[in-house]
Amino acid sequence: MTLVAWAEKAVVSATLASTNSRCEAGTKFQQRRQGVETHICGTPHFWCAPCTTRLQASNGNMTMNTAPPDTRNALRPSLPATTRRYLVQWIAAAALCCAVAGSVSATAPSPIIIQFSHVVKPDTAKGKAALRFKQLAESRTGGKVRVEVYPDSQLYKDREELDALRLGAVQMLATSLSKLAGLGGDDFLAFDLPFLFPDRAAYRAAVDGPLGVSLLKKLEPRGIKGLAFWDNGFKVFTANRPLQGVADFKGLKIRVQASKVLVAQMRALGSQESVSPLIDVRADLTSGKLDGQENTPTNIYTQGLHDVQSHLTVSNHGYLAYAVIVNKAFWEKLPAELRAILEGALRDATTFENSIAEADHHKALDRLKASGKLTLHTLTPHEAAQWRNAMAPVYQEARNWISAETLAALPVLPGAPP
Ligand code: LMR
Repeated sequence: MTLVAWAEKAVVSATLASTNSRCEAGTKFQQRRQGVETHICGTPHFWCAPCTTRLQASNGNMTMNTAPPDTRNALRPSLPATTRRYLVQWIAAAALCCAVAGSVSATAPSPIIIQFSHVVKPDTAKGKAALRFKQLAESRTGGKVRVEVYPDSQLYKDREELDALRLGAVQMLATSLSKLAGLGGDDFLAFDLPFLFPDRAAYRAAVDGPLGVSLLKKLEPRGIKGLAFWDNGFKVFTANRPLQGVADFKGLKIRVQASKVLVAQMRALGSQESVSPLIDVRADLTSGKLDGQENTPTNIYTQGLHDVQSHLTVSNHGYLAYAVIVNKAFWEKLPAELRAILEGALRDATTFENSIAEADHHKALDRLKASGKLTLHTLTPHEAAQWRNAMAPVYQEARNWISAETLAALPVLPGAPP
């Protein structure tokens, strides 16, 4: 059958659809991504969008649903000649595209797609490392894997992205350790204990040893595989009033991540906690729904929170870090040789992330100072001691959630309250 004759058939089918009022004659054929289906069979599919008539291009051979011949002939005259000529030309052109797409798919199978979602801006250590992983994964697999990075809650907000990963709607995340408690990993709450780590090296010693391995393993019964730890850095507080003594927290509504330890921390300081997604924080501070928040300088600067807050206290009272996690079933079904390449790419992206996080942290703090929008205060040793005392009960409460085994595995650190 010639291309034009085939296009005639398509017009008849579209006409039939229009008489069934499911499609208007002249509707464009539209290519739509069909997610997993396209991805697995490697075959492009094309739809007439409103009526969902499907064309399938497979190895250059085109097939489509057509009406039975008698109905087709009866309907043929219903289209005006010019419209019909126009449609025939348009569909013939579309068919040519399909044939090309089909022949490409015959020689180049569709890549495996990894959707990598995160909630911070691309210009952060996590954002940059996600792109580094994409670049390494795609080049080292020779295009067999495509990594789609979705930053800044473009796909999902904080809690939603964890559900999306479990359901397989995305395949990879780099989520904060605080949020992992929601996935049955209550022991991750240990990383939110106030003033636990006196410096970055102490935090790294905790995650790089056997504790890190055993914590990631705890996610597996929930269908999640943990692959790496990425750094961000120490958190600070912002508000629209100075936060120096513990009494300054009284009556404030402060945003924290979804973590029982962080909620307990705010209550110990005399504030009311508000657990909300990062993407909503700026608007909530602007509207007055929130009075303050805690985060790292990089997140504060890149989210523009300094535009809507007047005071920042460099308290270094907690550490924000991430686990890179994948949907376990997806990861384990990958061909072994591709998985090994991806693990190598992730190792290198991890080294990159952990090598830039500290410099980015200081750069962001300098930028916050230089913005002139905030008054910065660094906790004095006396104020820090007062904060530690106020927060000490959090350690007691945390024993209800964190296993004794994990608490015992944490290094006994000079900075930690008893
Ligand atoms: C937050 O919600 O404040 C952080 O977890 C965001 C992030 O991923 O750094």
